[in-house]
Amino acid sequence: MAEEHKTSPDLSAGVDAALLPEGGSLNGRVGEDEVLLVRRGAEIFAVAAHCTHYHGPLADGLVVGETVRCPWHHACFNLRTGEALRAPAIAPLACWKVEQRGGKIFVSEKQPAAARQSRPVTAAEPGKIVIVGGGAAGFAAAEMLRRSKYQGSIVMLSDDDAPPVDRPNLSKDYLAGKAPEEWIPLVSDSFYAENGIDLRLRTKVAAIDPQARQVALVGGGTVAYDRLLLATGAEPIRLPLPGSDQAHVHYLRTLTDCRAIISGATTARRAVVLAASFIGLEVAASLRERGMDVHVVAPEKRPMERILGPQMGDLIRKLHEEHGVTFHLENTANEIERSRVKLADGTSLDADLVVVGVGVRPRIQLAEAAGLKIDKGVVVDAYLETSTPGIFAAGDIARWPDIHTGEAIRVEHWVVAERQGQTAARNMLGAREKFTTVPFFWSQHYDVPINYVGHAEHWDEIAVEGDVQAKDCLLRFKRGGRTLAVASIYRDIESLKAEAEMEGIAAAIP
Ligand SMILES: Cc1cc2nc3c(=O)[nH]c(=O)nc-3n(C[C@H](O)[C@H](O)[C@H](O)COP(=O)(O)OP(=O)(O)OC[C@H]3O[C@@H](n4cnc5c(N)ncnc54)[C@H](O)[C@@H]3O)c2cc1C
Ligand code: FES
Repeated sequence: MAEEHKTSPDLSAGVDAALLPEGGSLNGRVGEDEVLLVRRGAEIFAVAAHCTHYHGPLADGLVVGETVRCPWHHACFNLRTGEALRAPAIAPLACWKVEQRGGKIFVSEKQPAAARQSRPVTAAEPGKIVIVGGGAAGFAAAEMLRRSKYQGSIVMLSDDDAPPVDRPNLSKDYLAGKAPEEWIPLVSDSFYAENGIDLRLRTKVAAIDPQARQVALVGGGTVAYDRLLLATGAEPIRLPLPGSDQAHVHYLRTLTDCRAIISGATTARRAVVLAASFIGLEVAASLRERGMDVHVVAPEKRPMERILGPQMGDLIRKLHEEHGVTFHLENTANEIERSRVKLADGTSLDADLVVVGVGVRPRIQLAEAAGLKIDKGVVVDAYLETSTPGIFAAGDIARWPDIHTGEAIRVEHWVVAERQGQTAARNMLGAREKFTTVPFFWSQHYDVPINYVGHAEHWDEIAVEGDVQAKDCLLRFKRGGRTLAVASIYRDIESLKAEAEMEGIAAAIP
């Protein structure tokens, strides 16, 4: 990066305009800042060269209209204002002033952050918004409400110990010991007070009273609302196994859970991970990076086959085996003892740390008890409003009508939860905006990222492009000839294009 920085053109001194064709982009620098130039028609935009989420290189991303999409986790930024239009990025990109003179492009001073357009307060504007949940969807909603200039009260109730955290990192770099503490909170602790968001931690909502428009708290007290967002997420499914209530048996959802595993891993040498789920396998990889002996026990024949197909399943298995993980597939645990796990086939595995990752269950009890429509999730309409007007739901609990598959779907993806939180926020203010985003998730195993766009629960064909075993591939999951989802490794631009195609804006891509 340092070398690249020195050799990239100094945009303040001017670059030949011919170097930047229509729709093209060019990396350069202005002083110490790395800057991306993008041409759209007669206009040229200059924005920060790296994504504000995890620093993805935007030059490798996709320009769509007046936006640029990040190659790593598909955040989307407005090129004119820098605004992060789509999560997972929340903070805007810096923008610079651009001039064209004598066939050259000159980039000068950084622009002040674009003044957000004030929004006329309508008579229907709610005075009090309550958000139940301090995770991805709840946080993104609160942030979007303030970003949208909402002036009323926001109360965010969370039964977690910590303010909203970067949950995906808890099974990845943070668990592996490679991410500093400051990466984990989604924003600084002062963000909430500075933005008038009344974040109440360790506060569990016991019930919703839709008639009185208030929620009751465990331990007493009520909080009134005009609009309510339910963003209660999911909780790990507990294994009803003998011995599973011991202190060395862990589940992973919260920062507290993660710290308990890290603490256990400081003295433990041998770990058994129950289930070859995304979280289970990411945990296995992180514990291997900590030098632990790791065994994975799972009932299926191939890890992740149900979601990613046999080719990717074989690759994931090979990848983990190359890193020293031992699989016990088509097998299950019968009993957990203090220092070993007994399997159904009679094998006994030494284990002083056990992590269970057998899946999650949406936390729908509040919604169910309040009489909201439930279908293995909280049923919402295209605007993310539940069957009770004024109550919205987003994230892992929400089952929404997905226009791409024509089915009502519920997914457990970070980016979807955040984007639903953002849409729900605007709709609580009366925007009437449909949630039409194509689902996206990523997973990371060692240095191999897997990106997935779309949603395919069943398919009749997997079209493979590239070489799966060489970790350079794109798999199209098709039903009746139509691509429902695309999984890829190191094919970021194709993944972004597939997403844009699914959104039906392929024509906009040069
Ligand atoms: C370790 C880990 C790694 C992951 N990695 C990825 C990944 O790489 N990519 C990906 O796409 N997805 C990943 N996910 C999934 C992703 O984190 C979830 O889809 C996302 O967090 C869902 O957001 P949410 O807001 O619906 O729920 P959550 O983020 O779980 O937030 C729910 C919130 O509601 C609170 N709550 C629940 N009930 C109550 C109540 N009654 N009263 C008060 N508060 C309540 C909880 O305390 C919590 O604050 C991962 C998940 C985990 C656990
Ligand atoms: S680094 Fe850009 S979206 Fe994550």
